[in-house]
Amino acid sequence: MSHREAVTRLIAEIDRYLARLSGPGIAEVRDGIARSNKCPAQTAAKPAPPVCGHLDAALRAMTGADPLRRAIEDIRSDLGWITYDEYPREAIGQRFPRAHAFVSLIGDGGFIPAEDFQLGLFLIAPKTLYRDHFHPAPELYVPLTGPHGWRFGTDGSWHDYEAHIPIWNEPMRVHATLVRDQPFLALYAWTRDVDGIAVVKPAPDWAEIEAGL
Ligand SMILES: [Fe+2]
Repeated sequence: MSHREAVTRLIAEIDRYLARLSGPGIAEVRDGIARSNKCPAQTAAKPAPPVCGHLDAALRAMTGADPLRRAIEDIRSDLGWITYDEYPREAIGQRFPRAHAFVSLIGDGGFIPAEDFQLGLFLIAPKTLYRDHFHPAPELYVPLTGPHGWRFGTDGSWHDYEAHIPIWNEPMRVHATLVRDQPFLALYAWTRDVDGIAVVKPAPDWAEIEAGL
C-alpha cells in the first residue's frame, strides 16, 4: 500500500469510526474532516520521541475498533510523532514532556492541509498525570484505550471513561487526564482557534496524585 493510500484509508477509517459515536463535537470534527483538502501532502517521517515505544502496547490494548487499529498500524512507520512544548516545565511537571507524544494527521504539520482545524493521534505513557489545563480551542478526545481518569476543574472529582467514549471540551474548560497502567491512545481534534496556546491551571493535589502512580 502506498503512503497516499494509507493516509486516505486512515482518514476514511477515522471518519467511519466517528460516525458510530454520538455526542457534542462529533459533527464538528466530521465536518472538519470533510472540509480538509483530501489530497495528502507528502511528508517525510520525523524522528519520534521515546514515548512512542508505548504505541505497541496501546495498539494491543485497543479493542473494539479493529479497522481503525489496522489503518493506524499500516501507517505507523510514516507517523512523525512530536511533543507539545508550549507548557513551562515548572507548570506541567518533569514527567509529562517526556511521557507524551502526538502526531498531526490533518492540519498544521499533518499529512493533509486544513484551515484552522487539527486532527491527530495522542499518546501518553502509563503512570502519567496530564495536569489540569485549558485552551481556547474546542477539543474532542476519543480515547481508543481505557479506562482512563478525567476531571473537569481542579476541584472536580475524577471519573473513569472507557475507550470509545468521546470527551468534548468547550473552549477554556479545564481538564486533566490520569493515565494509570495502560497507555493512553486517543484521537484528538481541535475544531477551531488552533493557534491558541494551552495553559496549565495549578491544582493543590498534583504531588499526591503523582506519588500514587
Ligand atoms: Fe486539551
